[in-house]
Amino acid sequence: MSDLVLEARRVADIEEAEHEVYVPDPGVVEHSYIKDPDAFYAESVKDIPAFWESQAEGLDWYKKWDRVLDDSRAPFYRWFVGGKTNIVLNALDRHVKTWRKNKLALIWEGEPGDSRTMSYYALNREVNKFSNVLRGMGVKKGDRVTIYMGRIPEIMVAMLACAKIGAIHSVVFGGFSENALGDRIEDAQSRVLITQDGNWLRGKVIDLKTIVDAAIRRSPVVEKVIVVQRANNAVNMEAGRDFWYHDLMSLPIAMTSSETEVMEATDPLYMLYTSGSTGKPKGLVHLHGGYQVGIASTLKYAFDVSDEDRWWCAADPGWVTGHSYIVYAPLILGLTSFMYEGAPNFPYPDRWWQLIAKYGISHFYTAPTAIRGLMRFGPAWPKRHDLSTLKVLGTVGEPINPEAWRWYYRYVGQNRCPVIDTWWQTETGAFMITPTPARALKPGSATRPFPGIVADVVDENGESTEADQEGFLVIKHPWPAMLAGIYGDPDRYVNTYWGKFPGVYLAGDAARKDADGYFWVIGRIDDVINVSGHRLGTAEIESALVSHPAVAEAAAIGLPDEVKGQGIHCWVLLRNGYQASDALAEDLKLHVRREISPIASPDKIYFPSTLPKTRSGKIMRRVLKARALGMAEGDVSTLEE
Ligand code: PRX
Repeated sequence: MSDLVLEARRVADIEEAEHEVYVPDPGVVEHSYIKDPDAFYAESVKDIPAFWESQAEGLDWYKKWDRVLDDSRAPFYRWFVGGKTNIVLNALDRHVKTWRKNKLALIWEGEPGDSRTMSYYALNREVNKFSNVLRGMGVKKGDRVTIYMGRIPEIMVAMLACAKIGAIHSVVFGGFSENALGDRIEDAQSRVLITQDGNWLRGKVIDLKTIVDAAIRRSPVVEKVIVVQRANNAVNMEAGRDFWYHDLMSLPIAMTSSETEVMEATDPLYMLYTSGSTGKPKGLVHLHGGYQVGIASTLKYAFDVSDEDRWWCAADPGWVTGHSYIVYAPLILGLTSFMYEGAPNFPYPDRWWQLIAKYGISHFYTAPTAIRGLMRFGPAWPKRHDLSTLKVLGTVGEPINPEAWRWYYRYVGQNRCPVIDTWWQTETGAFMITPTPARALKPGSATRPFPGIVADVVDENGESTEADQEGFLVIKHPWPAMLAGIYGDPDRYVNTYWGKFPGVYLAGDAARKDADGYFWVIGRIDDVINVSGHRLGTAEIESALVSHPAVAEAAAIGLPDEVKGQGIHCWVLLRNGYQASDALAEDLKLHVRREISPIASPDKIYFPSTLPKTRSGKIMRRVLKARALGMAEGDVSTLEE
């Protein structure tokens, strides 16, 4: 289908969905923590710090805070100042003192079909042991540890062990290439890296350790590498640098008892890289105190989870969704989580549905791109499984097109389970705009802000837009799980998020509110592309392209794609002596995969003779996009051509 037809279909689908309201089932409302969402919201924003304080009271603290919100150094807002805690105190320590110690924290299935379980007791024991291993390697409070792994239980152990001793973890998604990994190691200055010998994906072993070796050759700051054995993959182990996890865990130093480091609420818990519109990916920093409050409250209320439930967030721990809603929030709430190592369509497109039935999953959370991908195989696949244990479904990562929403609601949720469309970002740490199960739903809308969150759509002057008018999505009051800053770059933090409207957080998305106050997120306003829910900067892709000897200049944009949401289209000017050809286009695609990741691989490469530029030489991506979609080019008065 052409880009233009796809775009037109998308718009028509949304227009129809605005008038399609799904009223919650009385049973759902009765079971919900929030029975009247509007009243609850109105109450929460009367005194926002008081609302979040009441949420914080539900968690454990070594010492309570002196101030809920310190805005004296705005926009460096700090929550629960003076409080002493550690997210591990809430995620593990408090549970192993209660009956929950024998409850399953994790059920895991590998792609080949092997499985493991861990009670809170067992997980805590493993984390204690590994925290002592890390201490033994000299890792101290405030040190950065890079984690480069797939979806196996040890990634949780590694993250929790870092948090326990006050080290800052920097998880790099296992799909990133050696160069992307090397850059992130370098920026974080990690001396210790944790990885695995390989992970299973679509029947093959992805050789993570070889990628690590290459990344370290590039960024030799790493002194010690800990390797979890998962795939019996023969890997190179460098003497004195590389150690097997299981060897270390059997040393006397790996004692089963370990003190949890007492942290300030405002001490960093982790950094996580994400793409912006310019330059290199930025390491966003989240803190122990406010973050735990934000993620625990949002998961509890948005999904109505309780002790008897089985939670499955099918994201990757390498993204913020995994940090907040695979690792930390479910543990804080004492839930049983399920984790699956492999691909949803392996060996058949019903692997997920089969797993839901096999383990009796009650809450399932994934991305629209995955739903669209599985939808292509037809409803016969979910239909052949007993999905009656499901209670609530969720989505995240990009706007869900109403067609995919309806399919998910009908064939997975069997017209029974609310679909919780959660709008949030790596920066926000936790859900910001999301329904809670008792809210009436419209397919494709994330509905309204979560309690305690003040979101709005504003125009160029910062004034709220009229109903249905597109504008900038902003947050008008600080929230506890908000990012604390960008690692090593305070100015970039201030300029990127707080520079456009004083005192107001700019999300970087376009959105509109309808007459019912429901938010419809349209997409990024900056040069960020959302490919299958993965966030990529056009600048990153362009700089990967120009690092190829054939390329003089490049421009990348996102265009509609039926499954991925957006596909990557690149216009490339060649250096003298190079000829455009299909072979060169393929080579350039491969080059970007190697430089960044397979997720950044361009869908199409074009070789024009010129690029539309302003007189000052900036490439006008907007004009490329308009031309590709056959739409009006808008104001081109600054165009040089
Ligand atoms: O454009 C929005 C889109 O994803 C961006 C954030 O990407 P990232 O930091 O990678 O975090 C993704 C997981 C939280 C946002 O600026 N986005 C995320 N969720 C939604 C969404 N767009 C529309 N609807 C959503 N539910």
